[in-house]
Amino acid sequence: MTTLLLGASQVVTCRGPARARRGAEMADIDVIDNGAIAVGDDGNILDVGRGGDMRAAFPSAEIEEVEGVLFPGFVDCHTHAVFGAPRVEDHERRARGVGYKEIAAAGGGILSSVRDVRAKSPSELEVLTRARLQMLLAQGSTTVEVKSGYGLSLDAELKQLDVIRALHHQRPNLIATFLGAHEVPAEYRDDRDGYVDLVVREMLPAVVQHGLARFCDVFCEPGVFTPGQSRTVLTAALEHGLRPKLHADELDGSGGAELAAELNAVSADHLAAISQAGIDALGNASDTVAVLLPGTMMFLGREGRAPARRLIDAGAAVALATDFNPGSSPGMSLPLMTTMGVSQLGLVPAEAVIGITVNGAAAVGEANRRGQLAKGFAADVVLASVADWRELPYWYGVNLVAGVWVGGAACHPSLKPLNSAS
Ligand code: NIG
Ligand code: FE
Repeated sequence: MTTLLLGASQVVTCRGPARARRGAEMADIDVIDNGAIAVGDDGNILDVGRGGDMRAAFPSAEIEEVEGVLFPGFVDCHTHAVFGAPRVEDHERRARGVGYKEIAAAGGGILSSVRDVRAKSPSELEVLTRARLQMLLAQGSTTVEVKSGYGLSLDAELKQLDVIRALHHQRPNLIATFLGAHEVPAEYRDDRDGYVDLVVREMLPAVVQHGLARFCDVFCEPGVFTPGQSRTVLTAALEHGLRPKLHADELDGSGGAELAAELNAVSADHLAAISQAGIDALGNASDTVAVLLPGTMMFLGREGRAPARRLIDAGAAVALATDFNPGSSPGMSLPLMTTMGVSQLGLVPAEAVIGITVNGAAAVGEANRRGQLAKGFAADVVLASVADWRELPYWYGVNLVAGVWVGGAACHPSLKPLNSAS
């Protein structure tokens, strides 16, 4: 049965090449007034066009009336959604003037989430993660990349990735990334290269053998992993068939963006401390998406901003994501990231929308099937209760998402509390 989503004041299609949009291409989103979307049995889009034309073209379609603006399903291409407790103490300590890296050095930070994840059972983590993914879906994220990285031992990393796999058949669509090199665990504090060795020799092969991840990421940051150590891990990942991603130049620069471009990583993420050489490298990269995470700098209370405008002007492809995690960014709203993209990073609204659709999809290797409303693409669709698409980045602090379809199936969630145990 064909379904026709009909009645939208606008359909934002983002139609165009099935790859990341770079530089000036990012300002082109293609809006159809009074548009409609025809969805086939297989969950893919049959066509998109003006409502009247589409009614005539699909006379026997079942009509689903909608009110608002339809967007391609949002793609959150950078999250750490499998974790235990929120880190409210870290938040309070920062308010009292203690820095992110100081908190980590004092036993808070990533390693406190590691202790927590190691202690939790797979089913406890699954319940917590499921509720959080439903919250992301309710904000319009129909595809979500999820990283491991709070295990930092073979068993605990596999446990996190198993949770992602267990939730795979549900909504939203999930893409798993192995982030064994997120931090050096306490037991390897005096043997950091020994931990890199463990990641390369034991964890990576096991992750690949069980088919648990599509990408491999490293936190390349002064005081965490050096560019040399990052290169070791990501080169091994490439040999195992996992394409690199990289936490690059987040708080202090260390050449991460250049390394990501050199390794043809699918994305280089954060970039608030990127150098001019890094901007040039991503501007000239054929395939690496610059993923900006403005929620992180806001939540950490830091003044650094990723130079979005300079990246786009250099010809880079920019995506926006939440970095959803318990330490530096417990935020779940991609629409809010578009607000920050426009108001803090200097993107125009169309660039911000491309950043959470086409370019988000490209940053997880899905640009050939998601991120645009066009014939043959998955019918991942978001309905926002607005009349003009530019209201998406405009209103903030409210959830404008009134409907969500994933693969053509309506699945707007009714939400449970975020830390509920069942
Ligand atoms: O992307 N940068 C490293 N990882 C996360 C923070 C994780 C945490 O604090 O738990 C990030 O900011
Ligand atoms: Fe991150």
